[in-house]
Amino acid sequence: MSDDLLHAAREVRENAYAPYSHFKVGAAVRGASGTVYAGCNVENVSYPEGTCAEAGAIAALIAAGETELTEALVIADAPHPVSPCGGCRQKLAEFARHDVPVTMTTTSGDSMTVTIGDLLPAAFDQSHMDR
Ligand code: THU
Repeated sequence: MSDDLLHAAREVRENAYAPYSHFKVGAAVRGASGTVYAGCNVENVSYPEGTCAEAGAIAALIAAGETELTEALVIADAPHPVSPCGGCRQKLAEFARHDVPVTMTTTSGDSMTVTIGDLLPAAFDQSHMDR
């Protein structure tokens, strides 16, 4: 796991807005340029309108003009590493090759690294739209 991603995700997690779940999450992704982008979960009183930390980090990468991520990390205060939700797996897959590593870590340091392909085998992609 890369220290700069861990540091960025740990720091942004402090700003997470999670008054409903009380479950703060931080995420960081590395763009192809090497730059690190971070995001936290932002909940909403209308629950489905909340956004995950991974979505925030991806939005920052896109806003900066990048289109590819080469590494991702997510951190939460949980007994075991928390893996990205289904929607975030699809969001990560949109901008990453299947072999890109995704590290899931807890605030106490328990961590696990898998690939996006592990998280989302048989991903929905453009080939499904060919006619
Ligand atoms: N959450 C994330 O931000 N990322 C994950 O990988 C798992 C879940 C957020 C969504 C919601 O705000 C809270 O954690 C509880 O599900």
